[in-house]
Amino acid sequence: MHPDVAQVLYSEEDIARRVSEIGQAITAEYASKAVEDGLVLISVLRGAAIFMADLARAIDLPLEMDFMALSSYGNSAKSSGVITVKKDLSTDIEGKHVIIAEDILDSGLTLEFLLEMLQARKPASLAVVTMLRKDVPDQAAIACKHIGFECPNGFIVGYGLDFAERYRNLPYIGVLKPEVYE
Ligand code: IMP
Ligand code: MG
Repeated sequence: MHPDVAQVLYSEEDIARRVSEIGQAITAEYASKAVEDGLVLISVLRGAAIFMADLARAIDLPLEMDFMALSSYGNSAKSSGVITVKKDLSTDIEGKHVIIAEDILDSGLTLEFLLEMLQARKPASLAVVTMLRKDVPDQAAIACKHIGFECPNGFIVGYGLDFAERYRNLPYIGVLKPEVYE
């Protein structure tokens, strides 16, 4: 285990099993729709890239992959809710089935913004799949089609999640020691 990590929440094997389950569920749910209208997986850079790469390979349907980059102002550890688009989609999503693959649902402000923005482009459907949902008070009510795991209200790293751009490449999901970020 990395010395800056206080506790491993989910191992590489736990994650692989859960991603495979979610991929199978999505395959069943979108089987007819994906072929007819098209299915687009979207991830928000950079945290969700690893989850989306694994999830895409667990879905046995034709699909497109696209990426967005957002920036949120305020202090780095907390989302301020003021979000701007740094990189937009390259794909036209109108009439297609869209799944947002997110790394972690924290305040929910990022997803609230993204859902409103993408809904305006008239996709055939729009759903959220998040690897983690953090147990925080006053989280925005975001309907998630699938949630990988629930996690405690600490600073979570690994499997794409960073602190100051580090730890994204840890193969497991863990809690960062408070002394590292305080
Ligand atoms: P929001 O508060 O739900 O808008 O979360 C926005 C983004 O903050 C997430 O997509 C993550 O990229 C990042 N984030 C939130 N909590 C954590 C965490 O515990 N570790 C690393 N990144 C996080
Ligand atoms: Mg993110």
